[in-house]
Amino acid sequence: MGQGPNPASINSSQRKKAEQTPLRIGVMASGSGTNFEALAQAILRGDLNADIRLLVVNNPGCGAQQRAERLGIDVDVLDHRVHQDREALDRQLLSRFHAAAVEVVVMAGWMRIVTDGLIEGFPGRLLNIHPSLLPSFRGLDAVGQALAAGVRISGCTVHLVTSELDSGPIVAQAAVPVLETDDHASLTRRIQVEEHKLLPMALTKLMPQWRQG
Ligand code: GAR
Repeated sequence: MGQGPNPASINSSQRKKAEQTPLRIGVMASGSGTNFEALAQAILRGDLNADIRLLVVNNPGCGAQQRAERLGIDVDVLDHRVHQDREALDRQLLSRFHAAAVEVVVMAGWMRIVTDGLIEGFPGRLLNIHPSLLPSFRGLDAVGQALAAGVRISGCTVHLVTSELDSGPIVAQAAVPVLETDDHASLTRRIQVEEHKLLPMALTKLMPQWRQG
């Protein structure tokens, strides 16, 4: 018998190393970028074992881009207006994220519909955050839809992205009461406070399964 290392212990030390290695994530954002920054701050606090390799924004100069520049995180601008169609934009997204070697992509306030090219490029590894308790109030202006419907509880959802809009498997949700005094701005604000906790938690929750597969 040789004196080499036991293969079982190699496997377990490789597994441990993989578990400690920060998850390489890419983020997509269109607006002010508070969810993007919540991810970055969770990483800085040590609450999320990840590394944001790249932010892609579709609105030049948006808040998310400014936050990335302040935080020293790489940011690419892919203006949807100069792409021929959704497929062309998503091909570019895919190629930027592959070049940055990201393992998982998070849509943190990405206000464009994504196509199968992007979804299939990150199977089970493309997440979206939406400001309602899905399956209620899919699509645009979920907060306005909740107010118009008169619901007393709304919230936010993190889910895996599939080709049907806001319909993929739910990963995590948080409920937010709708107060009599709420308007669009106040309800949005209170939902976002929950989003900022939920999104890093959802990534942490899925990490073991991504590590395995
Ligand atoms: C977030 O509230 C997010 O849930 C929502 O956009 C906001 C982005 O805010 N996303 C959607 O409505 C997607 N359908 P942020 O730019 O401050 O993170």
